[in-house]
Order: sequence, then C-alpha cells, then structure tokens
Amino acid sequence: MAGRAWEAEGERVRLRDGRAVLLRPAGPRDAAAVLRVINAVGAERQYILTERFPASVAEERVFLARLDRSRNLMLVAQEPDRAGVVACAAAMQFMSGRYPKCNHVCSIGISILASHRESGLGTAMASRLVEWAALVGYHKVEAEVFAANVRALRLFLGLGFQEEGRRIDHVHLPDGYTDLVMLGKVVGVEAGSGTPSGVVGPGAGN
Ligand SMILES: CC(C)(COP(=O)(O)OP(=O)(O)OC[C@H]1O[C@@H](n2cnc3c(N)ncnc32)[C@H](O)[C@@H]1OP(=O)(O)O)[C@@H](O)C(=O)NCCC(=O)NCCS
Repeated sequence: MAGRAWEAEGERVRLRDGRAVLLRPAGPRDAAAVLRVINAVGAERQYILTERFPASVAEERVFLARLDRSRNLMLVAQEPDRAGVVACAAAMQFMSGRYPKCNHVCSIGISILASHRESGLGTAMASRLVEWAALVGYHKVEAEVFAANVRALRLFLGLGFQEEGRRIDHVHLPDGYTDLVMLGKVVGVEAGSGTPSGVVGPGAGN
C-alpha cells in the first residue's frame, strides 16, 4: 500500500454482490463517518468490545490528523455514488506503541455496516491491511474476535492467522458468554525464536 497509487486516489473494489466501494485511507475529514460506523456496529452489541466510542468528532479529527501514517493505517470503504462511508478498518501499532517490546506487533480491527457484510468487503480490507503491515516492516499482525463471530473467525483464519489462545467466557453478549479468541500471523521475514521450553514457570519473571 505504501507508495501505491491507490493511497492517493483510492482503490475501487467490486463486491461479490456486484456493488462497488472505494477503499482509501481515512483522513481528518472522515472523523464523523468513522465514529458513525464504529458506533453503529458497537450498538449491535454482538461483534466488538466498543459499544459507544468515547471520542467526540473533534477529538477523532485530531486523532486522525496526528496519526503516524508510517505505523498506522485506517482504511474507509465508501460508496462511490452516494459517498457514504460503510466500513472502516484499522491496522494500529499494538497498544499505540506504549510497550517497545511489542512495537513489532500490529493490531487489526474491522467494522462494516450491516448493509455491506458478507460480500467480501471484510476480506478485501483485512488482506490489504495485512499486506501493508508486512510492507512497512511489522513482524506480526494480530486480531481479537469473539468465538461467536463466525464471519470474523473465518476471515482471519482464511488469511493465515492462527488461533493463539482463548480467554474463556471473557465476553458477555446478549445471548450469553463467549470466548475472546486471540489470533496472530507472523508476516516478517526474520524467524522468531519462540519461547524455549523450561523458561515459562515460577521465577521466569516478566
Ligand atoms: C466480521 C466482518 C469484518 C467480516 O467481513 P464481511 O465482509 O462481512 O465477510 P466476508 O464476506 O469477507 O467473509 C469472511 C468470511 O466469513 C464467511 N461468511 C460470510 N458470511 C457468513 C455466514 N453468514 N456464516 C458463516 N460464514 C460466513 C465467508 O465465507 C468468509 O469465509 P471464507 O473466506 O472461509 O469463505 C464483518 O462482517 C463485520 O464488520 N462485522 C461486524 C464487526 C465485526 O465483527 N468485526 C470483527 C472484529 S475485528
């Protein structure tokens, strides 16, 4: 993505149902639309932890204006004719770069309005974010999804993410408890060493 023509102009993507959307990086002018999409998905109380995003439009505008584009990418999907934003998806440095030991990790999250689901848009956005993360030098991409969210699980597993673990009954949905599934994919060329056996245990330290 970095340096590609679409970054300035956007990329037109045809969905499985025949509709087209324009994928492009979000800028400050998209603040209200991004909040609208996240809050609409959050209000469903089924798919993402956020129910109502705490930022105001003005705060989100500043956030998007100040975003370090070399380490973070937010994409929006826009209807070409009606110009409405129908989805946003972000690849952000893990915990906003707060922990240098994890600065090689990029977290991915996606919110698509109900009107535009199940037509390949999520896969299109996530695959571009994964490609971008590898291109800018991240070693690993990660995502957290609810076990009950079959679409999201299939999407990430289909892109080569592996299930790394589950936080059992971590999420309480209107229908009951569900696990929080941690998914990850190493995209860097440098081989990881993993954790040598015997290191984990009492006294291993943090
Ligand atoms: C989850 C989400 C991003 C998926 O995007 P999408 O555009 O709806 O899904 P896609 O059409 O790209 O399909 C993704 C996978 O789900 C599968 N899928 C789609 N609809 C499905 C359904 N009703 N039941 C089971 N699987 C389904 C697809 O077959 C595909 O899997 P495959 O590649 O193995 O065939 C989108 O639905 C969404 O934003 N949902 C609300 C927010 C959310 O759940 N975010 C995820 C947390 S990061």
